[in-house]
Amino acid sequence: MTAPRLNSADQARANGLYTGPVGHGGAAGAESVVALIRESWARVEPESHDLAKHFYALLFEQAPETRELFPINMQVQRGRLLRAVVHVVHMVDQPDQLAPFLAQLGRDHRKFGVLARHYAALSQALISAVRQFNGPAWSRETEQAWVQAFELITGLMSRAAEAETGPASWLGRVIAHRRLSWDVAVVRVQTGAPIPYQAGQYLSVETPRRPRLWRYFSPANAPREDGILEFHVRAVPDGWVSRAIVAHTQAGDTWRIGPPMGQLPFHRTPGRGLLLVAGGTGLAPIKAMLEQLAQQSDSPRTELFVGGHGWSDLYDFASLRELSYRNSWLNVIPVVECEEPGASAELGTLADVITRYGAWVDRDVVVCGSPAMIRATVSRMLVAGTPLDHIHYDPFVMD
Ligand SMILES: Cc1cc2nc3c(=O)[nH]c(=O)nc-3n(C[C@H](O)[C@H](O)[C@H](O)COP(=O)(O)OP(=O)(O)OC[C@H]3O[C@@H](n4cnc5c(N)ncnc54)[C@H](O)[C@@H]3O)c2cc1C
Ligand code: HEM
Repeated sequence: MTAPRLNSADQARANGLYTGPVGHGGAAGAESVVALIRESWARVEPESHDLAKHFYALLFEQAPETRELFPINMQVQRGRLLRAVVHVVHMVDQPDQLAPFLAQLGRDHRKFGVLARHYAALSQALISAVRQFNGPAWSRETEQAWVQAFELITGLMSRAAEAETGPASWLGRVIAHRRLSWDVAVVRVQTGAPIPYQAGQYLSVETPRRPRLWRYFSPANAPREDGILEFHVRAVPDGWVSRAIVAHTQAGDTWRIGPPMGQLPFHRTPGRGLLLVAGGTGLAPIKAMLEQLAQQSDSPRTELFVGGHGWSDLYDFASLRELSYRNSWLNVIPVVECEEPGASAELGTLADVITRYGAWVDRDVVVCGSPAMIRATVSRMLVAGTPLDHIHYDPFVMD
């Protein structure tokens, strides 16, 4: 599922994003800006490892104080920021989704200590690195396309950061760590003041065992006045942060937590039921939404399909079933891809199983999980006839 694209420079201007011309002698549309960026990036992508090294060398030369914002061991993360920035630059033709995301990202970057002048240094370093690796294929138009994309992105980020008056981050104390399986743990963290998130949003987290390695996690509970957040963390193979959290986090640890991000919270349509689709730890934001619904008096008819490869991936199924016993408006359906003796679940991928039931036209649909799972589920639902404007998912997360 790809997001709607701009068809013309006029539409981009109408959205207030494009402020200046691209190319000398005239304005280029958003499409040609993105085409120039994509072409020039495709040429250097096979060398992105070396390009990343060069980019950081230039950044730290131009703005030496930025070195201490990054992890001590750059081997661990080297490609991460570069990948993120290039991903964003490739999306400048999707302003409706990009603008709110960048505003949140700018507010979030205050926790690193990023200042307005660092954006200029990063833009220059990245453009210089891409220019150098492009060699003679680099043109003046290409340069201007990158410059314009960066002006747009860094302008949105730094303006949002300057306008924000809330804390750049919150300190939280781990009050409980419970392993649900060999690879999944539930961690409860309490912050001094509650973080102003909405059910369905995510937060970035830095833990004491992995300083300066921030990762996103979604609270699995609705906001509470006592500031308690529950996270579901799955250890991924070779994962620096997730494995440390699952295996080594202890009550008493202090976590640093960034401001809320994500565009999942949406206005429900009166009279429409809900279809919730959760893959893996995509269950966490869905659980937060369920908890919020359970606090209301008018909870809509809700079907939750929760899926995994095998039964053991449905790590929280017992508590979901209990929730459905307590709330008659909720029906929970387990879905697994591999048949297992004695397990009573629907068989197939989440996309297979949901579309077997039809188009769900009377529902608002929420899909949470890995980007691949979201893409597969949303595209199959569209083919099955679910109206696009009924389907809600976070349009802009990093793979
Ligand atoms: C918006 C958002 C919300 C998220 N919410 C949650 C959540 O609630 N709970 C949760 O457990 N995780 C969540 N994640 C994933 C989490 O942020 C980390 O990416 C994940 O924990 C891996 O980090 P790591 O440092 O352990 O792995 P890294 O050291 O960054 O990566 C190690 C290896 O694992 C691969 N890898 C990275 N992420 C994954 C993945 N998800 N699955 C399989 N392989 C991977 C990498 O490509 C690399 O090869 C969320 C991610 C996003 C973008
Ligand atoms: C063009 C504007 C920028 C964009 C789009 C951007 C985007 C991002 C994203 C999405 C991440 C999270 C990566 C992930 O965990 O997957 C990140 C991390 C980070 N960013 Fe930025 N960023 C920008 C500018 C900057 C600037 C100017 C600085 C400071 C010099 C900076 C410093 C960092 C640091 C320190 C991290 C965490 C460490 C790391 O992941 O390497 N960013 N950025």
